[in-house]
Amino acid sequence: VSENTRRNIVIDVAIFAAFILAMAPRVTGVAVHEWLSVALAATLLVHLALHWDWLREVLRRFFSRLAHESRLNLIVDLALFLAFVAVMASGLANSRVALPSVGLDPGFSLFWKRAHTLSTDLAIVALGVHAGLHAKWIWRQCRKFLLDPVAGLFRPKAATGGQG
Ligand code: HEM
Ligand code: HEM
Repeated sequence: VSENTRRNIVIDVAIFAAFILAMAPRVTGVAVHEWLSVALAATLLVHLALHWDWLREVLRRFFSRLAHESRLNLIVDLALFLAFVAVMASGLANSRVALPSVGLDPGFSLFWKRAHTLSTDLAIVALGVHAGLHAKWIWRQCRKFLLDPVAGLFRPKAATGGQG
């Protein structure tokens, strides 16, 4: 596995875990919800930056020589990006901890509360499609880093050449 793939896996697992937690503010409490989500926003930018070359290449060839799959990925990625911008913006507009801590209190707004819930739902759907389009890649990494090592524990010692 290349260094780049390893780095991508670490980031992907981290943002996935953070997103799952961010979906449950009643469980984490609002303070953790807000700071965790701000950290997630920053890490999502890293995720995006790590695929910058891919983005540039796909944009350059969008109307010409490009696999349909890449074009579909780009469109889904754009929807995903817009959904996350809306989630973070509406989240900040509801903020009761993070923004007040720097002296900005947006106060309560039913509009932004509704916008936050709605954009979160859209982000969940877009993320489901994003993950689905990379299902093969995700399955390959799960096999390599989870299933194969665990299966290795149960392999007969003789099969390793009698060393261990
Ligand atoms: C919790 C959120 C997310 C998770 C778990 C996630 C996961 C993944 C995975 C597993 C891959 C393929 C493997 C890799 O090379 O890393 C990938 C690729 C990619 N992701 Fe995400 N992603 C998330 C959010 C986003 C967001 C918000 C964007 C914003 C546009 C984005 C843009 C991309 C791009 C551009 C690629 C590479 C191109 C592609 O094949 O689609 N991702 N992501
Ligand atoms: C990926 C990022 C985020 C996700 C998935 C997310 C998700 C959610 C969900 C599902 C709720 C409950 C909505 C409801 O009760 O109808 C919520 C509430 C809330 N979110 Fe977020 N959110 C994110 C980011 C943010 C950010 C960045 C902030 C502010 C800095 C924020 C501030 C809030 C606040 C103040 C509430 C109301 C909490 C309450 O009334 O108990 N969120 N969020």
